[in-house]
Amino acid sequence: MHQTIIIEHLEPEIWPWCKIEYESISKIVPKENLWFTNIVQENSSLESLGKVSKQSVINLNLKNACILDPDAPKTLTPKEAESFEYFIIGGILGNYPPKKRTKVELTNKLKNAEVRNLGKKQFSTDNAVYVLKEIINGKELKNIKFQNKLTIKINEIESIDLPYYYPLVNGKPRISEKLLTYIKNKKDF
Ligand SMILES: C[S@@+](CC[C@H](N)C(=O)[O-])C[C@H]1O[C@@H](n2cnc3c(N)ncnc32)[C@H](O)[C@@H]1O
Repeated sequence: MHQTIIIEHLEPEIWPWCKIEYESISKIVPKENLWFTNIVQENSSLESLGKVSKQSVINLNLKNACILDPDAPKTLTPKEAESFEYFIIGGILGNYPPKKRTKVELTNKLKNAEVRNLGKKQFSTDNAVYVLKEIINGKELKNIKFQNKLTIKINEIESIDLPYYYPLVNGKPRISEKLLTYIKNKKDF
């Protein structure tokens, strides 16, 4: 792939959940095509995954860039995905109902970038990258299969619902093993 995928980190810390999603992204995007921007935290230990910058993508003045935002009016197509040089994705944890942080913190601040959605449903950051990669590889969004909401069983009694949209890979919702283990061991929700 020739495109650079930029994750603009927008959480106050690199929470373990963020780190696990970023590791998951590094399995989808080659290191030389992956940037993490707005990393103001010391010792982020993201250098092994991609290029790391303290600068916000907002100050990089990139040409031919596309922000992925669920609130964008247009859906990304394979044809135009091929023509963009940079894709900008929010390093934002999911919230339900969505708080429109991508629009407020990226789209409204980067006036010279194009903006596209991957449908209107909310993906995790790593699953947004997965869907983006499928579109870059020539698949139309309508030909990708999804599941709405994922229930994770914690033990015999408890379970948690993740109210997001999951692309299906070999018929199963895409979530990393590391995140499953993290969620099962996390006590506070
Ligand atoms: C968990 S989402 C953050 C959603 C957040 N609740 C909001 O309101 O913006 C993380 C990132 O994945 C990308 N993303 C997720 N779902 C998307 C969709 N349907 N279309 C385009 N981008 C999406 C966006 O770049 C978003 O910033």
